[in-house]
Amino acid sequence: MSGTPRVALGIDIGGSGIKGAPVDLVTGTLIGERVKIATPEHSTPQAVAAIVDQIADQFVDSLPKDAPIGVTIPGVVQHGIVRTAANIDRGWIDCPGQEIFSQALGRHCLLVNDADAAGVAEVRYGAAKGKDGLVILTTLGTGIGIALLHNGVLIPNAELGHLEVDGYDAETRAAASIRERDGLSWTKWAARLQRYYTTVENLLWPDLFLVGGGVSRKADKFLPLLHLRTPIIPAALQNQAGIIGAAALAAD
Ligand code: BGC
Repeated sequence: MSGTPRVALGIDIGGSGIKGAPVDLVTGTLIGERVKIATPEHSTPQAVAAIVDQIADQFVDSLPKDAPIGVTIPGVVQHGIVRTAANIDRGWIDCPGQEIFSQALGRHCLLVNDADAAGVAEVRYGAAKGKDGLVILTTLGTGIGIALLHNGVLIPNAELGHLEVDGYDAETRAAASIRERDGLSWTKWAARLQRYYTTVENLLWPDLFLVGGGVSRKADKFLPLLHLRTPIIPAALQNQAGIIGAAALAAD
């Protein structure tokens, strides 16, 4: 047997749910059913760590003892410390998240930003595989997550979902959750996305935009309404990307 792990556990902490599953690192696919538990209303580090532990517990018996574990969080993560908390409890700010999860799990885990994990999954197994130049994955969900990938290499913690566009923090106007909250038509929402993606492409000149998040399943409703110079396509791994990327990064 080689020293490279074949299987790792990925756990993705989102605004509405915390999801986990073992991942086959050769194929980049989930092994068996993923487990999903609702994110607690007060998503404090302790409350979330208890759920992460509960999810991991469901898989430990079927995983190799030394299987790596990767966990995502919707905030900036520098050296295991969470720095921002736009859509989770503010108690996460400056919290040693990686250490807290590692303690709760009783073994080391890696903590990464959720969009960064999704970006790595798309590069290794999905729609960004083999794409050179600058690929920007945008996840449209509770917030807007960004992964910057240059020639397949991740530049972590790009928080361009919070770019100021027309005087607003972009995600407060253009996230998928805002479309749902305000009952926006696809056309109205697409107009906001148009402003957002135009701003990003004028600043960074990417070669490709990928659109992830649950709403990417309905990409045909809004991508044709956008007029950009940059090609824009749906991400391939949809809402499994965070789990797969967390597992892959933990195994590196
Ligand atoms: C956070 C990002 C996160 C994104 C998607 C934003 O509000 O600041 O860190 O990646 O939401 O969850």
